[in-house]
Amino acid sequence: MKNTMIEDGKLFLGASRKPDDSFNKAEWLDLKYGNRHGLVTGATGTGKTVTLQILAEGFSNAGVPVFCADVKGDLSGIAAIGEYKDFLDKRAKQIGLDPYEFQEFPVIFWDLFGEKGHRVRTTMTDMGPLLLARLMDMSEAQEGVLNIAFKLADENGLPLLDLKDLQAMLAYMASESEKLSAMYGNVSKSSVGAIQRGLLVLEQQGAANFFGEPALKIADIMRTTNDGRGAISVLAADKLMMNPRLYATFLLWMLSELFEELPEIGDPEKPRLVFFFDEAHLLFSEAPKILIDRVEQVVRLIRSKGVGVYFVTQNPLDVPETVLAQLGNRIQHALRAYTPREQKAVKVAAETFRPNPAFDCFEAITKLGTGEALVSTLEAKGIPSIVERTLIRPPSSRLGPITDAERQRVMAVSPVLGLYDKDLDRDSAFEILAKRTEDAAAAEEKTRQAEVEAVDEVKETRRWTLPGFGGEDDDDRQSDSRRAPSRTTTRPRSGYQRQTMAETVLKTVARTAASSLSRAIIRGILGSIKKGL
Ligand SMILES: Nc1ncnc2c1ncn2[C@@H]1O[C@H](COP(=O)(O)OP(=O)(O)OP(=O)(O)O)[C@@H](O)[C@H]1O
Ligand SMILES: [Mg+2]
Repeated sequence: MKNTMIEDGKLFLGASRKPDDSFNKAEWLDLKYGNRHGLVTGATGTGKTVTLQILAEGFSNAGVPVFCADVKGDLSGIAAIGEYKDFLDKRAKQIGLDPYEFQEFPVIFWDLFGEKGHRVRTTMTDMGPLLLARLMDMSEAQEGVLNIAFKLADENGLPLLDLKDLQAMLAYMASESEKLSAMYGNVSKSSVGAIQRGLLVLEQQGAANFFGEPALKIADIMRTTNDGRGAISVLAADKLMMNPRLYATFLLWMLSELFEELPEIGDPEKPRLVFFFDEAHLLFSEAPKILIDRVEQVVRLIRSKGVGVYFVTQNPLDVPETVLAQLGNRIQHALRAYTPREQKAVKVAAETFRPNPAFDCFEAITKLGTGEALVSTLEAKGIPSIVERTLIRPPSSRLGPITDAERQRVMAVSPVLGLYDKDLDRDSAFEILAKRTEDAAAAEEKTRQAEVEAVDEVKETRRWTLPGFGGEDDDDRQSDSRRAPSRTTTRPRSGYQRQTMAETVLKTVARTAASSLSRAIIRGILGSIKKGL
């Protein structure tokens, strides 16, 4: 067997066993069907992470970039060369992997908090209201208000980059809730307040790190090395998992970005990218139906963009049936079957396989050893193979975590070094709104001067102006046009008043409402911005 463990466009998974436990045959995952998605399930400690590791290794060697999350820190060893261990060597011999060679892989570490990897960020505008509402667990009324906030921002070219941008937008909405309600539907102050409080909580949880620029470019997780291997992007997720909703929303956003950015390519010889969704139950638990439907839609459609999505979770019941039905390549590790719910899970798992007359699936699932799994992959014409009891191959990279020093060394030679490590604070909604307020105040001052002068002038000449002309300001049209001169006397003021941010935005909104269509942001299935339009 070759070191790359890829033969004829297939990725080596391990070897199946006959009923008497003797060697049966090698088991493969056909790269041609790598974009037909997959599922790795099993109880804790049964071998899911190692399976993810060997799949990532195989894809990388085949030139396919991989994105995965390292939930417990034990996947990081994929960046280091493997080491001889008796039990690994034994496994290699059992499955006929000879020679069993060690290898290190091109890994890019990422981290939302910038501690164990390069910073990953996105902007509020990019994430969109659907995912943000999910992230903040909003009520329907709050989500309605958030949608209006995005609509206002999208239509008015106000980039919502970070948390303070959305805060500024919400502050404006609170002060203008009546006017906005008339224009867009109910904008209740209490909903706005609830979102504002939610944003504070997010901030405390460290999400401020995540929202801002420079935003992650999808091209950076789709890199290949000079020798043709796919980069393995490993997202440090141990700290992130303390906020499971942020974790799940982040991965959904990634999926959404991939979907919106990548072109259709049909069914390629091998995937363009493989995306592992570990702890996938977090994605679906308590998710509203609309979100599940959209995820289902994205998973179905992303296939023809060459992206394979592999869900990793303990229990196959964690994944909704509509999504489960689309996962072609399956690796089922052992499950316990003591409680009725566990038994149901085993039954569901057993029934999803194309049966093998040599053994009973239900029974096999409960008896599988560590690093052993029921395996069925898509074969010719995309038909699932007959399920086989399979010993999964040992990894070529290190089993278990790497040290901090090793991680630093990997990061120091990373191709994205320096690209994301510093925050960029370009003008966004917060700054633009602040600036517009200042500008407006300056303009106001100028107008006031002009008014004084004009009125003086009028007093002198008693000249009439034509009705309805010359009014730049919308407010002027409402004025009595016969009164002269319309421009300058419509808003007699008792004194100078600084125009509020709210007024500024409202005017901007009113002015651009008609002409905004061409600039308006178009959002995709999961609410990410549609690119390249
Ligand atoms: N293919 C394999 N070859 C050799 N040993 C394996 C293999 N798979 C698993 N093991 C052994 O089993 C241990 C547990 O595997 P792993 O960490 O993958 O389990 P897991 O299902 O991810 O557990 P958890 O749910 O706790 O994350 C490994 O540390 C390793 O010792
Ligand atoms: Mg694990």
